[in-house]
Amino acid sequence: MTKYVIRGGNPLHGEVDISGAKNAAVAILPAALLVDGVCRIENVPEISDVTMILGILRDLGAKVTMINRTTVELDCSRVYKQNVPYELARQIRASYYLIGALLGRFGRAEVPPPGGCDLGVRPIDQHLKGFAAMGTRIQVENGFIHAAAPNGRPHGAQVYLDVVSVGATMNILLAAALADGLTIIENAAKEPHIVDLANFLNSMGADVMGAGTDVIKVRGVSRLRGGTYSIIPDQIEAGTYMTAVAAAGGEVRINNIIPKHLDCITAKLVEMGVDIEEEGDALIVRRGPGRLSPTNVKTMPYPGFPTDMQPQIAAVLCLAQGTSILNEGVWDNRYRYADEFRRMGANIQVNGKIAVIEGVDSLTGAPVCACDLRAGAAMIVAGLAAQGTTEIDQIYHIERGYENIVAKLSKLGADIREITIPEEEWRSNGVG
Ligand code: EPU
Repeated sequence: MTKYVIRGGNPLHGEVDISGAKNAAVAILPAALLVDGVCRIENVPEISDVTMILGILRDLGAKVTMINRTTVELDCSRVYKQNVPYELARQIRASYYLIGALLGRFGRAEVPPPGGCDLGVRPIDQHLKGFAAMGTRIQVENGFIHAAAPNGRPHGAQVYLDVVSVGATMNILLAAALADGLTIIENAAKEPHIVDLANFLNSMGADVMGAGTDVIKVRGVSRLRGGTYSIIPDQIEAGTYMTAVAAAGGEVRINNIIPKHLDCITAKLVEMGVDIEEEGDALIVRRGPGRLSPTNVKTMPYPGFPTDMQPQIAAVLCLAQGTSILNEGVWDNRYRYADEFRRMGANIQVNGKIAVIEGVDSLTGAPVCACDLRAGAAMIVAGLAAQGTTEIDQIYHIERGYENIVAKLSKLGADIREITIPEEEWRSNGVG
């Protein structure tokens, strides 16, 4: 069993380099299935979700070559399988992108329903509705989603998404790149990773227009060729370091980012009294002495405040001077972390999609649990600011999405370590 142990109270100083975006990488790597040639993909984050996706691609028959720590070459020319094993797909949400990518490549796919963080009900009906509109027959049988396009290739279609869905937008884009004719996705999501997937596909010869707006048009082409592509920086990783400085204090230069992608987070932190300066592809985040002001946050699809930053900003609000209200606009159940914050002395009340946070003078370290990826990041943010020692378990959730977080924070002056407790010890302590 591994844990993070944080001794809080050190302000953060120095520079941190942001890695490639998880939610772009987990779609762009499967997109290589559509490419007739070798793709070299750069700025790939070294996180366990990426390892999982590469494992699935290898299982399908792709040749995966790591050129260096963050560059991978994918040659999918020998892929023959169209079915993803249950045990691999269940471990990761993004395995649903294998449906769109395999459907685009072979006109058929067999993929188990995806896993991922428990954020309440996570349907994929909009993905399936899109595939069905493109002429695909969808059946769920023996725990697998079977998708088959009768003519061996989906056809273009007009798809109106009933909810703005990142996953459905990207998945339909994948299925449409090589489809027969024009696909129009209306009410599409606009997140930076959607534009990144479209840019990747276009750089390999696809014809995708309008990504980043709510109408995306994809004219199917007969072939995508190989090439080199670099993944955008991770908006949420950068935002997490911004909240870490806001909570713990100090001054940190956050490098390798696209400041525009962070506007929604910057605006809230500035409102609370954090000083943020833009310098090329970096942000300098400063938090002086004194308490921050409270604020209200509603999470929304991009360009709104991202739901994937909601737990981390909640950690900062726990220390603000006054009452803040959080309104979760995307997921049904994204406050499972509230009990963990309470262990640290936070005053947070949850009612459905609303959380009311009464800021306290200080948090105190406690044993807490990373109940999902972003909740785990929020425990780190809180632990860095808390007095005393915080021990975070179930850190495998955090490792799904944050590259080298212990090393990056240590370099900024945080007192954070990863410790491994021998199995005999935690069993004899009655844990697990
Ligand atoms: N929804 C439907 N039907 C669908 C798809 C979605 O009703 O077919 C609903 C969902 O229940 C939710 C809303 O639409 O209420 C938005 O869901 P979306 O499809 O946008 O989410 P997702 O694709 O499953 C991705 C990220 C999540 C992030 C959300 C929202 C990946 C692999 N996951 O999930 O990231 O919270 O978009 O931005 O890209 C994370 O990184 O920690 C994470 C959970």
